[in-house]
Amino acid sequence: MQKFVYEYATKVYFGEGAAKEYLAAEVSGYGKNVMLAYGGGSVKKNGIYDEVKKYLEDAGKTVTDFSGIMSNPTYAKVQEGAALAKEKNIDFILAVGGGSVIDCCKIIAAQAKTEKDLWDMEMNQHQFPTEVLPMGAIVTASGTGAEMNGGAVITNEEKVIKAGMAAAAPRFAILDPAYTMSVPKMQVISGAFDTLSHAMETYFGNSDADNVSDDVALSIMRNTVVNMRRLLKDINDIQARGNLMWDSAMAENGILKVGRVTDFQAHQIEHQLGAYTDCNHGQGLAVIHPAYYRHIVKDAEEKFRRFGKEVFDVDSAAESVEALASFIKECGLPSKMSQLKSKTEITPELLKNVADTCNIIPCNPRKLERNEIYEILMECM
Ligand code: NZQ
Ligand code: ZN
Repeated sequence: MQKFVYEYATKVYFGEGAAKEYLAAEVSGYGKNVMLAYGGGSVKKNGIYDEVKKYLEDAGKTVTDFSGIMSNPTYAKVQEGAALAKEKNIDFILAVGGGSVIDCCKIIAAQAKTEKDLWDMEMNQHQFPTEVLPMGAIVTASGTGAEMNGGAVITNEEKVIKAGMAAAAPRFAILDPAYTMSVPKMQVISGAFDTLSHAMETYFGNSDADNVSDDVALSIMRNTVVNMRRLLKDINDIQARGNLMWDSAMAENGILKVGRVTDFQAHQIEHQLGAYTDCNHGQGLAVIHPAYYRHIVKDAEEKFRRFGKEVFDVDSAAESVEALASFIKECGLPSKMSQLKSKTEITPELLKNVADTCNIIPCNPRKLERNEIYEILMECM
């Protein structure tokens, strides 16, 4: 294990009825003005909005709605939220949604506290927010683990870049599996694949051979696959949805990452693919992962062999990648670019742009050149 410091910023309330039981007490320590932020309206249809609003009002809060946060949230939407937070003197932001709503709110929380342009500040001047509005998250769709970390992924449409930004970590996260029951099957499976990807991307980074974090990552992968299969049989299995909800948080709360280096090259490629196509994050990863792993399997053969054995019960490194590819098909996830829902046609030129603009991870397991990233993307056509 390498040296590490681990501190945990977010208090988690897991289980059915958690919002009713704990929300009022959690927000009681903050000022009166609460921004209730959500997405395109699912929370209005499934009743979560009415429920949460009532808990806030019963707690004596003045609630300001901020709605319409889209999947792959944009920097423009962040600015809209930050302007509203300033206008209404917001004291606390409550994100109610999936990764997109939570990420957007994390950056709003920072942008609301500065007149500087946060994108320019972080990307160009490499300065990071020191003051943020406090925020909390109620998860309605799991997968990203966004509720348990201080990073956010934002699409800057003007610059055609989707990138991670440093932001506010939620003070608390409410994880009620019952709140996820209305999430459509394809989103549940795409979200869970994102979780699997986080654990794989962490595991395939360089580590000592006997790193405890590898063992934890492999358990999360195994549990994610088992529970995805349970949901393929019965999408209403609340126990499986709950397991996946905690897998999701575990994969991105930093625990798997301690004492080691991570990879996350597939994520870097997918984020830029998202910048050009607005595709679903988990589905973009499902398309990219097998092709990427076919390229690097020889650079981390023993790790792939162990992954194959422990997650898919196959014997060799090469088989492990093919087992992953079959699992993706078994889940009904896309395995080709043409199966992705994209705002624009995915052409070789578009993929060239993705390859030319994505971040490159310097070391793990092997640094890719841009022409190889283009090859990988073309193999997904
Ligand atoms: O917008 P609404 O109407 O709420 O519908 C959403 C959306 O269409 C729907 N949904 C959410 N809860 C629901 C529901 N539908 C029915 N019932 C419910 N209870 O689900 C759809 C997808 O939501 P979204 O938040 O976009 O999905 P997800 O949670 O997968 O988040 C994706 C975003 O998170 C980023 C991704 O890049 C992407 O922008 N990520 C954030 C990470 C982080 N901060 O740690 C890590 C990840 O790697 C990822 O990059
Ligand atoms: Zn992800």
